[in-house]
Amino acid sequence: MKKIIFSLLLTVGAMSTAIAVEGDVEAGKAKAGMCGACHGATGVNPNPTYPDLAGQHEAYIAKQLADFKSGARTDMMMAPMAASLSEQDMADLGAFFASQKRASERTASVEDSSTPTATTASTGDVEIVTSTSAKAIYAGDVKAGQEKSAMCASCHGVDGNSLISIYPKLAGQSANYIAKQLADFKSGERKDPVMVGMVAALSEKDMNDLAAYYAVQASTAGAGETSTAGHKLYFGGDAQKGITACVACHGVKGKGMAQAGFPALAGQNADYLKKQIASFRDGSRGNDRNEMMRNIAIKLSDSDVDALVKYMSALK
Ligand code: HEC
Ligand code: HEC
Ligand code: HEC
Repeated sequence: MKKIIFSLLLTVGAMSTAIAVEGDVEAGKAKAGMCGACHGATGVNPNPTYPDLAGQHEAYIAKQLADFKSGARTDMMMAPMAASLSEQDMADLGAFFASQKRASERTASVEDSSTPTATTASTGDVEIVTSTSAKAIYAGDVKAGQEKSAMCASCHGVDGNSLISIYPKLAGQSANYIAKQLADFKSGERKDPVMVGMVAALSEKDMNDLAAYYAVQASTAGAGETSTAGHKLYFGGDAQKGITACVACHGVKGKGMAQAGFPALAGQNADYLKKQIASFRDGSRGNDRNEMMRNIAIKLSDSDVDALVKYMSALK
């Protein structure tokens, strides 16, 4: 009985977080990109770890998002997702997913390229399937990318496994992520004196081709000493300092989430990783959507960074 009363109280308390603004389907669709990795691009993912959102009540979706943000509902993966959403974003996302057909309403022919096929990303000890078909990841042409990569090899290695610690490995990195970085270097959204010259002459097709080529290369395993403190922070975050666990977005094995454009970090060169976290922290790198990384990096101490870099670069 006590339990029932308690949960009733919780329900009443949580009702105050219901969203009052009106949602817009198109705006929601544009904002749903980062949800696709786990919930499927249109809100259906056959993986049993993730709830389907398609056809769910609009107001319910918005309320859950508000609760994940306020902490009234806790989930390691959803907390960082909801953290950066405004009330309008929540309403728009609710409207978009509510407008999608439920899994049971879909016929075989509707199940097209947006239909999930098994690919990577993982959490816990369970391998998790993301809703990314190979075709959706590799908008580019691998063969063409290989030809175009000749001018990149001196720094990034022939197969994207850079041997020089200040240059990032690109092998096995998410194609979406690589293409975005190249576009960001070109637009000036991400600044680097070396890379800006490299991308100046690249077309969008060149970027997609290069991204496809590197994404299908096997990355070499990390080396060096791991860190217990880094492991703890990576998986658990730090509730007191408000640091979101890295695992929520970068995955259990550090392989990232390809479709969401969350980069792989496992085995990445240590000096490169350290410079990137420092750049997010001081704001000199600001190409992360919704300030996702800047908000986290700013809370990391120097010793946190050292521990995390050791842990990530040693990940195999
Ligand atoms: C990294 C994986 C991941 C991503 C990315 C993600 N979610 Fe979730 N989501 C989850 C998991 C896991 C749950 C189940 C949480 C639980 O067990 O309480 C969930 C639950 C939800 C729920 C509650 C569903 C219900 O029936 O109660 C909503 C709504 C939701 N997510 C919306 C979103 C939206 C919108 C986005 C994008 C902004 C998003 N999620 C991105 C993993 C993810
Ligand atoms: C002269 C050395 C050099 C060459 C040649 C070079 N790069 Fe880079 N690249 C760098 C450096 C240095 C960085 C890291 C920039 C920073 O610190 O933000 C980088 C970063 C990148 C990143 C971002 C990686 C990440 O994990 O965010 C991508 C993608 C990339 N380069 C692709 C390419 C491609 C494709 C080419 C060929 C067209 C190329 N680079 C040629 C030095 C080089
Ligand atoms: C809410 C999701 C999220 C969380 C949680 C998160 N990250 Fe990230 N991280 C991102 C995204 C998105 C990017 C890429 C931004 C962009 O588009 O350039 C990124 C980029 C990075 C990069 C640069 C990778 C590269 O190749 O240049 C590093 C390093 C990194 N994160 C480390 C961490 C660490 C360490 C933690 C935990 C303390 C963490 N991240 C937590 C989303 C997240």
